[in-house]
Amino acid sequence: MRAVDIIRKKRDRETLSEEEIEFFVKGYVEGTIPDYQAAALLMAIFLNGMTDGEAFVLTRTMMHSGKVFDFSSISASKVDKHSTGGVGDKISLPLAPLVAANGVIVPMISGRALGHTGGTLDKLESIPGYKTDLSPEEFEKALKTVGVAIIGQTEDIVPADRKMYALRDVTATVESIPLISASIMSKKLAEGIDGLVLDVKTGTGAFMRKYEDAKKLAETMVAIGKSFGKKVYALLTDMNQPLGRAIGNANEVRESVDVLLGKGPEDVTNLTIELGAYMLFIGNVAESIEDGKNLIKKAIEDGRGYEKWCEMVRNQGGDPDAILKEDFTKTKYVEEIKAEKGGFLSIIDTFKIGVAASILGAGRAKKEDKIDHKVGLYMHKKHGEKIEEKDVIFEVRGNDPEKMKEAIKWLKESFIIVEAKPEARPLVYEVIS
Ligand code: URA
Repeated sequence: MRAVDIIRKKRDRETLSEEEIEFFVKGYVEGTIPDYQAAALLMAIFLNGMTDGEAFVLTRTMMHSGKVFDFSSISASKVDKHSTGGVGDKISLPLAPLVAANGVIVPMISGRALGHTGGTLDKLESIPGYKTDLSPEEFEKALKTVGVAIIGQTEDIVPADRKMYALRDVTATVESIPLISASIMSKKLAEGIDGLVLDVKTGTGAFMRKYEDAKKLAETMVAIGKSFGKKVYALLTDMNQPLGRAIGNANEVRESVDVLLGKGPEDVTNLTIELGAYMLFIGNVAESIEDGKNLIKKAIEDGRGYEKWCEMVRNQGGDPDAILKEDFTKTKYVEEIKAEKGGFLSIIDTFKIGVAASILGAGRAKKEDKIDHKVGLYMHKKHGEKIEEKDVIFEVRGNDPEKMKEAIKWLKESFIIVEAKPEARPLVYEVIS
């Protein structure tokens, strides 16, 4: 078999065979197929797509390129959640311990900030001492003792995605439904889970801005998951404004703790309850979604979710008490963006809010950039809220005046003030199973 023939076939819109996909992925991981041929095939897939069968084989081959966890010695159900990425999306933080507090094991392997979106690992690393790089043995032990661990991808988990993702990032081939699906699902399926809840974001702060694209992505990932015999639900959720009021890293951890203590923002709390209900239902702990919602609410009310969070943080070397201290989110400078007139707030471009947070230092412009965990934004007003002239809309917290100036420019373009109250958008648009 030759790589050039496989590239030509996809270029000419033909369907690749199982053997061809396996030959290509294996060759690329082992280094016998060079970057330039892999880039050509990725672009052909980007332009011409893949059938569901091809996407399934691609996922399976990528998943088996490295370690696949087997947690069958743990009898309880193992269920994870994955979000396709958004701004202010800190849901994994309160969700994982709330689900574990109800008896479902959560083996969560998370990612870092990507483009304008935040990353769970970067948020967790703002907690002093928190280790995201547990060894496979430590990961398994954490699941057996605590019931939940949130860690990063190690060298030996899906190396094919590691290599292909880096290549896609620099060849403009990220936004492809089969490539995103195979990338996400290969990593999730390597976690040794029984079920998965996907939070597929749509709107101005999502990678899939258009609803139809997000829906197709959700359907493709659900179909792949089912082909592997897993229980999978996808919730199509709104990303036309940030989730919650805090955007950054340390401040998002603090807001997540507020959710666990029963005083978090309504949208983050409700989405946590919604996704948690599906996880408990898939994990055979809840009899229905309604039952699942009640179980999650109860774990917030009686403090079991917060206790499980503290146990998880301590088990991974972190200090949960540090999060409650004032200096956890303290920056050198704070600036406010105020309303120039009264009316209602309309968020028109959440992407720009994500870029502003990243410019402040909450994300990276280059792979090697260091995150400034304390910087970030606080939204005093959310979409649709009434505002008076001079009300504070955004609080900008930074450590570098130049970056703050630049971030403020982006933020000023992210919203308008309108006379009539804009229509409220649903948090969850549709559930695909
Ligand atoms: N997240 C991933 O893990 N992979 C993609 O391709 C896109 C988002």
